[in-house]
Amino acid sequence: MRCDVLTLFPGMISSVLDESIIKRAIDKGLLEVRVINIRDFTFDKHHTADDSPYGGGAGMVLKAEPILRAVAHIGEGDKDLRIILLSPQGKRYSQEIAYDLSQEKRRILFICGHYEGIDERVRIYLKPEEISIGDYVLTGGELAALVIIDSTVRLIEGVLGDISSAEEESFNRLLDYPHYTRPSELMGMKVPDVLLSGNHEEIRLWRKRQKLVNTLRKRPDLLSTVELSEEEKDLLGEIREEESI
Ligand code: ADE
Repeated sequence: MRCDVLTLFPGMISSVLDESIIKRAIDKGLLEVRVINIRDFTFDKHHTADDSPYGGGAGMVLKAEPILRAVAHIGEGDKDLRIILLSPQGKRYSQEIAYDLSQEKRRILFICGHYEGIDERVRIYLKPEEISIGDYVLTGGELAALVIIDSTVRLIEGVLGDISSAEEESFNRLLDYPHYTRPSELMGMKVPDVLLSGNHEEIRLWRKRQKLVNTLRKRPDLLSTVELSEEEKDLLGEIREEESI
């Protein structure tokens, strides 16, 4: 995956890129991120990136020209860009969008808004996709861009040690099953016997059951959106009976 992040706060992005799985993906050449400072595309001596809103009101508005100049500059090197504007007005981000982005062949350009908003002409001229990571307002798009990069990069083949670990877990369909590691007993809390049994079929069934239990208890709304296998339907019937749900 190749992406550019257009931001007023490049340090916010770089510091996260320099850690953990994202860093490893970059080192392996599976992810390329260029962090571009919007201020480098301002044209006055004070490098002004914001201004007061026409019509009055509180706060500042991110100017359109530096952003449009930066995008034109990036577009000179790469005509085929997928432009994403991070904003609370966007389409709600989901695992489905993460999968889609992880398969994207075009360079992805994330534009991070700031202040009270961004000059509307950025939307009018670039017609970007607009993505929100949730119904709350952040101080800027940087954390949203990082959430998207982080959740997308782990779906790229070769980034996680075992690709099935990304595929198997939460939000693929159902919530995840509980995980345990050594010691087998901690402050009186024991690891379920089945996980120590070495019986792979029983472990598989236990995990499947626990996924359903977790989903039913924590996110029952998901059960109406996934297609269950016959085995899962039977297990769910049993669980519902036991738990009287
Ligand atoms: N910028 C400010 N709030 C945001 C949100 N919820 N999602 C994406 N970008 C944002």
